[in-house]
Amino acid sequence: MDYREAKKRAAKLRKEIDRHRYLYHVLDRQEISDAALDSLKHELVELEKKFPDLITPDSPTQRVSGTPLPGFKKVRHALPMLSLNDAFSEDEIAEWEARIKKVLPRNTPFDYFAELKIDGFAISLIYENGALKTAATRGDGSIGEEVRENIKTIDSIPLTLTTLAEIEKEREIKTLLKKFPDLKNSVSRPPRSCEIRGEIYMTKQAFEAINKERSKKGLPLFANPRNIAAGSVRQLDPRQTALRRLEFFAYDITTDIGIKTHEEKHAAAKIFGFKTIDVVKHCGDKKEILDFWREVLKKREKLPFLIDGIVVQVNQVRVFERLGVVGKAPRGAIAFKFPAEEAVTRVQEIVLQAGRTGVLTPVAVLEPISVGGVTVSRATLHNMDEIKRLDVRVGDTVIIQRAGDVIPDIVRVLKNLRPTGAKAFRMPRTFCGESVVRNMGEAAHRIAHPEKCALVTRERICHFVSKNAFDIQGLGPKIINRLCDEGLIQDAADLFSLKAGDIKPLERFAEKSAENLIRSIQSKKEIELPRVIYALGILHVGEETALDLAAHFGTLKKLERASEEELEHIPNIGGVVARAIYEWFQNEKNREFIKKLLHRGVHPQSYKLHTKNYKLQGITFVLTGGLETLTRDEAKARIRELGGDISESVSKKTGYVVAGKDPGSKLKQAEKLRVKVIGEKDLLKLIGS
Ligand code: IVH
Repeated sequence: MDYREAKKRAAKLRKEIDRHRYLYHVLDRQEISDAALDSLKHELVELEKKFPDLITPDSPTQRVSGTPLPGFKKVRHALPMLSLNDAFSEDEIAEWEARIKKVLPRNTPFDYFAELKIDGFAISLIYENGALKTAATRGDGSIGEEVRENIKTIDSIPLTLTTLAEIEKEREIKTLLKKFPDLKNSVSRPPRSCEIRGEIYMTKQAFEAINKERSKKGLPLFANPRNIAAGSVRQLDPRQTALRRLEFFAYDITTDIGIKTHEEKHAAAKIFGFKTIDVVKHCGDKKEILDFWREVLKKREKLPFLIDGIVVQVNQVRVFERLGVVGKAPRGAIAFKFPAEEAVTRVQEIVLQAGRTGVLTPVAVLEPISVGGVTVSRATLHNMDEIKRLDVRVGDTVIIQRAGDVIPDIVRVLKNLRPTGAKAFRMPRTFCGESVVRNMGEAAHRIAHPEKCALVTRERICHFVSKNAFDIQGLGPKIINRLCDEGLIQDAADLFSLKAGDIKPLERFAEKSAENLIRSIQSKKEIELPRVIYALGILHVGEETALDLAAHFGTLKKLERASEEELEHIPNIGGVVARAIYEWFQNEKNREFIKKLLHRGVHPQSYKLHTKNYKLQGITFVLTGGLETLTRDEAKARIRELGGDISESVSKKTGYVVAGKDPGSKLKQAEKLRVKVIGEKDLLKLIGS
């Protein structure tokens, strides 16, 4: 290809790549797979390598720059980046409205626009003739830091503003223009200069994935997604920023480009190529604001990112401006916050919780306190490294935080309030009479011989009866504890010899419920083999591996006799897992447990994959991220039906990684191992849905 042809092709490729970025991030749609998009990007990279003067600053290839910055330049904001006054109640909203009405001439018509308040990090973006020129942090409100190199790595931020002509055929855009016909004048061509403001954030899923990885590596954990967002935007090495999957919501256009309402600013930002908040409401009065606030509070936990309330502002831009600024906040807007998800309380005790594999998790027992409407009395401390990082001690006053999870985290210790003589927590040498060890390369401590510990036994019984194992209804941890305390069961096999008469005498156990429980246990004697294998609680053997083992061996007997080598040759099973399975079955106690189970009448059905169509025979799939048209379980079942395998981790043996929305670290691993990555659409084609 000669230079002229290459130039044309590069321009077309850029347009196409950006169009798919727009569809994915702004319109939430995917027309081509990630793999296909990657190959378009790859082609562009190759062209630019061959003809370096074809590189333009806004080329999608320029998102990741490799050179660490010496420092950040300071930039003065054209308009100060203000903050918002807070309201926590209906009364405070009423007071705010009264203040507004007092300032405005009588009968000035106005209404409100309400939207989510994203718990992230504010950024100002300046586009000149459509191209991203500056990205600045809020700083002190007047002067911020120039972080464009880092911001460029965020895919949901366009490097060039989209022009209306490029997207006006999209259904969503047509609807927008019909609703706001005046908008056309403002967005038909890129403004000479235009400032967009919005919030950088990280999804809860991405946050959890990062902390999980860090915990595995024994690295200190991040307290919340906002800290990662803020930290990585202010990283001097842009490669780091790229690593951390950040996103951006635009919520304001501060340049006057002829837009009359805040609602239309959202629409304009969307047309320009930004993701905008879609949980919004045009409110006529206070009551509607309150209704929206309640509605959002209800769906808060289910949102994929953290919010700390709603932002309400006067919708009419002219009226909003007329209301002016009081102190550092605009009078025409308010943050209507939710009850705090952070609270301060005291650590009464640090205890260890034993998991079924013998892992010991330190947990802080707290003075009970209400956080975001839920009473909390425990916080996980993860492992010893985390305790050391926080330096938390019994008696300490701590800030705790619930980030969507039930078990909260301790964010910080208020050391000035520490009682004198508070001692640092030490991991005991023994637990439950057994020695405590920490294996090389692991962050966690564990019990050397977990099978000998009564607490571990209880955890194992809980696992045995859980939903994906024996699924015994009506048998929760409380009843299991009582059965163990009364000496009625020593292990899960004993459940099958329980009689109604054994449990009826237990306090608060009605005749009827005793009979129901026994019936529910007995009904699970005939059981699918994968459930039994999973229920055994073998280290590293999750549901998927249990299915692989069942499919390979067909019966429990054959699995019991398998050599380490045979195990290692099963697709998806690596050396470590094979070793763990082999060792489990070598242990005399475990063999006895299986014997006892069978003796008590448990009968695992021999297992065969009922595959009519072997289309995917021998191909291993790894799923990551959310799917839209089918649930993960449906996808897995369909793949298996067609003879394919599912694995939880990516290896060289993986055939395809299916990347849905917000894919996790598996995607990175796939790229590293050069495993083929496909999107949901490709998967649907493969499985014929
Ligand atoms: S409007 C005067 N809309 O909240 C600033 N702000 O507490 C008005 N924020 O620094 C900005 N989501 O970073 C607005 N939908 C939203 C927001 C939002 C989050 C942040 C923003 C600002 C802070 C003020």
